Amino acid sequence: MYNFSNKKIIVTGITGGIAHASVKLLASLGAEIIVTARTAKKLELGLSGIEGNVSGEILDLTDSNAIKNFFDKVGSFDHLVTPAASSSFSLIKELDLDASRKLLETKQWGQLLCVHYALPHLKSTGSITLFSGTVTQKPLLGATMFASAGAATEAAGRIWAHELAPIRVNTVVPGVIETRIWGDLLGEEQADAQLNSIANTLPVKRIGTAEEVAKAVAFLIDNGFVNGISLVIDGGHRLI
Ligand SMILES: NC(=O)c1ccc[n+]([C@@H]2O[C@H](COP(=O)([O-])OP(=O)(O)OC[C@H]3O[C@@H](n4cnc5c(N)ncnc54)[C@H](OP(=O)(O)O)[C@@H]3O)[C@@H](O)[C@H]2O)c1
Repeated sequence: MYNFSNKKIIVTGITGGIAHASVKLLASLGAEIIVTARTAKKLELGLSGIEGNVSGEILDLTDSNAIKNFFDKVGSFDHLVTPAASSSFSLIKELDLDASRKLLETKQWGQLLCVHYALPHLKSTGSITLFSGTVTQKPLLGATMFASAGAATEAAGRIWAHELAPIRVNTVVPGVIETRIWGDLLGEEQADAQLNSIANTLPVKRIGTAEEVAKAVAFLIDNGFVNGISLVIDGGHRLI
């Protein structure tokens, strides 16, 4: 099993399902973790149930000065993990402009700004783990903004793996994972129906868990020879 003792890891968005599971796992493996949340109340909620050396700061990814100040305050650290992002789902005909812009602002620009402002403090032995989604490879109606921001992030990640060497840069590409993202997007009832129907079509006959994505995050942080990849965790969704 991995041992992250003496490693300081930053994970954005502790109230998110994948972030929460990742922090829980990384903390259990000995890491010191600094997480972020948009408000003090959300930070408190997000940290509940997590044991280990975990502390938090308030951060909204739409505030670039705050991102810079956050990284300057944390100082030197080992690994950056950036799952926080807002979500938006609409057909291009009916595009929700505000939500779409916010998705780009958090999922593409927000991850990019985190990398930019983290760099003066990120150790050269460290790594960056970005987030995309399988909609970059498997077209899903309504997922234009997820796909756009995700594809841009995956492409940038490969460039950064060159530019920032020896820092490693990889992207996690989740398929359909059970987190609040679906209820937020579709409403609880429709989300349940949608997830059940997708589960039946998948080769593995179920959707994924945040804990399974967390294991991929730990793998990417740990394995010093994995660099510049997009790691798909989708139960085979892109194959059908
Ligand atoms: N779950 C899936 O099926 C799936 C599939 C493909 C890709 N992904 C990607 O995987 C990553 C994690 O997904 P998830 O399902 O864990 O997401 P999630 O549960 O919806 O959590 C999203 C997180 O982002 C935070 N956030 C939203 N807007 C923010 C802002 N302006 N500033 C700072 N934080 C902000 C949220 O904080 P608040 O609590 O304040 O809203 C929350 O902590 C995302 O990039 C997502 O697009 C997920």
